[in-house]
Amino acid sequence: MKLTALAAVSAVALSYGMSASAGPEAEVLHWWTSGGEAKSVAVLQQEFADNGGAWTDMPVAGGGGDAAMTALRARVLSGNAPTAVQLKGPAIQEWYEEGVLADISSVAEANGWDKVLPDAIAGHMKCEGSWCAAPVNVHRIDWIWGNADVLKANGIEMPTTWDEFNAAAEKLAAAGITPLAHGGQAWQDATVFEAVALGLLGAEDFRKAFVELDMDTLKSDKMVAVFDQMRKMRGYVDDNFSGRDWNLATAMVMNGEAAFQIMGDWAKGEFLAAGKVPGQDFLCVSTPGEGFLYNVDSFAMFDVSGDDKKAGQDLLAKLIVGQNFQKVFNLNKGSIPARVDVALDEFDSCAHTSAKDMTDSSNGGSLLPSYAHGMALRGAQAGAITDVVTAHFNSDMSSADAVKMLADAVANSL
Ligand code: BGC
Repeated sequence: MKLTALAAVSAVALSYGMSASAGPEAEVLHWWTSGGEAKSVAVLQQEFADNGGAWTDMPVAGGGGDAAMTALRARVLSGNAPTAVQLKGPAIQEWYEEGVLADISSVAEANGWDKVLPDAIAGHMKCEGSWCAAPVNVHRIDWIWGNADVLKANGIEMPTTWDEFNAAAEKLAAAGITPLAHGGQAWQDATVFEAVALGLLGAEDFRKAFVELDMDTLKSDKMVAVFDQMRKMRGYVDDNFSGRDWNLATAMVMNGEAAFQIMGDWAKGEFLAAGKVPGQDFLCVSTPGEGFLYNVDSFAMFDVSGDDKKAGQDLLAKLIVGQNFQKVFNLNKGSIPARVDVALDEFDSCAHTSAKDMTDSSNGGSLLPSYAHGMALRGAQAGAITDVVTAHFNSDMSSADAVKMLADAVANSL
């Protein structure tokens, strides 16, 4: 009798689309599929499982997340949004404006996020005052990674000016080594471009150009010089660069086929996952010039129904900003914690440099959002800039024409 009643209740529950189990569950869309990235996301999966959560993985391969964002759009349009999504910068606000994000303020307040997150990071996580995303880390974009043995064998130090970089590249090329490991994908071109732009424009003009979209700066002679340097960079990559994934470019530096890579510090996650030691096997130095380009990974929760999914969202949000997770995840990912109260003792020298430079540049006004990684601009504007960068990199377009095209593209995207 009792059993029959129970069966009837669960039959009703299931027919209303409710799950029979009441545990927290989450379908998580992310683009962390390389060796180092997969190791990092496994930390979150494990913590979620340890706390009774059931995780359904939705990885969408493709560095920089373009493919993941296309998949997200398709899911939301079909009325079937994933529970939690790797989402960052102004894209969080764009989805909020669509009315499809869940409010996670109760978790943020219960766990005192305002007290442990820097204002600059918290600002990206709030939508009209309520919390709409949970930050995972701070990745730095403006890094050069170098193969220690290759550089030593060729008598080359890590470059501290773009002239030094160019001189090193010429020397390496003459010795038959690919100077710059690069994958010809639009977001990787944009990554190199913004590091060059920060160096040659300086922090103030970078902000004017790629945060404020100031036309005079976009059309300036300094911007012509940025494209001149990009033309040089094009000459430093190998013939097979087109379409190559970023982690394969990192592997070229690891195995000595190439000397340098300009890439965010998820590249360090890749070196570490392969057992390489910073300062010994590989070297890190910020790209020449002042400033710090930040890229904060975060997760937004989508408006879904079902108590188990809502419980999953709350649990995920709580774990993501938790002290232990922020340490272990970032040790693997190559980034530094978003929380200010995580001890960095176990982190390597590149992470220490990152933390120090972030504080210094924040104090000096040169802490800047990465445009190439969706932290500075809305999708349409960032896309318009990247289209020009890629068109220039993959043709013999002059720098003057590229600058003109850049200004037109930005003007049309506003
Ligand atoms: C993300 C990183 C990721 C990288 C390569 C960046 O946009 O912020 O977390 O590792 O893309 O996929």
